[in-house]
Amino acid sequence: MGQIENVLSENRAFPPSEEFRAEARVSSEQAYQRMHAESVARPEVFWDRVAQDLPWIEPYDKVLDWSDAPVAKWFSGGKLNASAVCLDQHLETIRSGKRAIIWEGEPGDTRTLTYTQLHLEVCRFANVLKARGVKKGDRVAIYMPMIPELAMAVLACARIGAIHSVVFGGFSAQALADRIEDGGCSAVITADGGWRRGKVLPLKKEVDAALENLAAKADAPEVHTVLVVRRTENEVAWSEGRDVWYHDLCAEASTECEPEPMDSEDVLFLLYTSGSTGKPKGIVHTTGGYMVGAYFSTQMVFDLQDEDVYWCTADVGWITGHSYIVYGPLANGATCVMYEGAPSEPHEGRFWEICERHKVSVFYTAPTAIRTFMRWGDEHVERYDLSSLRLLGTVGEPINPEAWMWYRRVVGQERCPIVDTWWQTETGVIMIAPLPGVTATKPGSATRPFFGVDAAILDEDGKELGPNEGGLLAIRKPWPSMLRGIWGDEARFRETYWSKWAGEPIYFPGDGARKDEDGCFWILGRVDDVINVSGHRLSTMEVESALVSHPVVCEAAVVGRPDDVTGQAICAFVTPTKEAEVGAALIAELNAHVSKEIGKLARPAQIRFTDALPKTRSGKIMRRLLRDIAAGVETVGDTSTIEDLTVLAKLRGFED
Ligand code: PRX
Repeated sequence: MGQIENVLSENRAFPPSEEFRAEARVSSEQAYQRMHAESVARPEVFWDRVAQDLPWIEPYDKVLDWSDAPVAKWFSGGKLNASAVCLDQHLETIRSGKRAIIWEGEPGDTRTLTYTQLHLEVCRFANVLKARGVKKGDRVAIYMPMIPELAMAVLACARIGAIHSVVFGGFSAQALADRIEDGGCSAVITADGGWRRGKVLPLKKEVDAALENLAAKADAPEVHTVLVVRRTENEVAWSEGRDVWYHDLCAEASTECEPEPMDSEDVLFLLYTSGSTGKPKGIVHTTGGYMVGAYFSTQMVFDLQDEDVYWCTADVGWITGHSYIVYGPLANGATCVMYEGAPSEPHEGRFWEICERHKVSVFYTAPTAIRTFMRWGDEHVERYDLSSLRLLGTVGEPINPEAWMWYRRVVGQERCPIVDTWWQTETGVIMIAPLPGVTATKPGSATRPFFGVDAAILDEDGKELGPNEGGLLAIRKPWPSMLRGIWGDEARFRETYWSKWAGEPIYFPGDGARKDEDGCFWILGRVDDVINVSGHRLSTMEVESALVSHPVVCEAAVVGRPDDVTGQAICAFVTPTKEAEVGAALIAELNAHVSKEIGKLARPAQIRFTDALPKTRSGKIMRRLLRDIAAGVETVGDTSTIEDLTVLAKLRGFED
């Protein structure tokens, strides 16, 4: 890779207001500098202090053991339980009656659970799992809509030491089956359906299809239980013995369940994410370090105060939902808003209506959502009283300065600091972000490394680059919530993340970035074959494999192209068989096929047919050329014309 071009030349900066600073948890540049320097130079001392806040069942004897790098051990010897960190510790305090979750369903139904009530429900849920034979170390797939039972399911698994693997409800039966198989899950928790854009998303039906698909495989894991929560009351098929209604079992379940003492390094969850091959990776997170990171980053980056009403709009199916809907905020005893449905349902002001109704003070969303709101128009925001808001956040992809400025002006009314947070499924928690009481924010920059994060910009050879030189983002020191591996594939773990540079292990996140003269980081996007569509990570190979599995597709190449709303959009170049009838019907069929293989989120925005894909003499697809064509740098025909890309490659001098 050559040096990445610096695409942004943004120089506005917004220091926190005096009013915000006065109340903030960290409010001076000196404090940030001192704490950051210590966290990097003496991580054992720094993280020991933070970890003292958590209710350990047994104390740890070593903060960090990096002797087996790149597999870190944090807080070795300690025992704790993540659900007890989120719930039990608050019960003896004034927070027991505090609202933990304020939930709204898409149709407008609501449910509020205090910490005491949530604790009770989680214990009951945990007992239901136990009654079905789920035990410590078992893997449980969770495929649910955004209802309170999703948070309960996650916490119930944690309570009994079962490893949860949440699969986003937008993934197809096939994608779910792949994840159940890879993780060796023996139980699935789902719902009859969920509400999305006024329609029922038939989740149980997808689970049935996934398990049918697995039953046909010789070495697939046996799923003994499908636990179904009733939500939409749509008709569902039933497999006697395997399928059980949650409400039936929960009626008999006790509301007491002692949390399982878990070793710091016991696995808390798996979460699948896309890499540069066709096979998603089961990212492994363990208990102690992850909880310390989730707890502390939530508190610091969102400057969480006891009276805050905090809303992260992500889905629990993604890492953002794990760390910043469930584990981080609950570990802090925060009041969290959770919403089931689409932002446009029943009108385009729904999010702001929710903010007004529940007096949301901290609001965390994705750039793609912000761009959508911008397009819908200011009036949908301005109709509501958003004076309760005091802090805004964004995550998932680079935010363009225009969208950042709109967010600040229209939603934040020029009053709220914006924390642009860079991190990944693998990092577990926020890695680069402003400290809102200290950092002067810049539109489009995630600004500075969080505590414990030693971030740098390196070139391919590992040389550190100077201010504003584009290069590869690197993390040079271990951090508590870092991934511990890829489930069942240690070689891939080492190869993907730790082999970019020779010498001491350095973590390679796969992003390009630059660092400006103030030490602020500007993320420039992925440098591998991962694309980011509406903040959802997809591998080009994954979509290519899905396309190629259709009988009329000989070959496919998938690239990302810039998109005003989704950040990147998928553009597929497809070589069909000679017999194929190329046209709109085939495009629709291929789209449906990709939806079936992966999920709607992976459908190409554009499919172009071609006689042959442009390749180098060694047979590599010339993705750079395809990216240019997809971005419209070179306009060639319309979507359904056969293009001879090989000729084009020659013309443009791309052949090697
Ligand atoms: O490319 C970066 C982008 O999203 C990737 C991580 O995706 P995922 O594991 O799905 O986690 C998303 C939510 C944490 C990163 O490698 N990304 C994430 N946050 C930002 C970002 N790019 C720029 N700015 C961000 N704030």
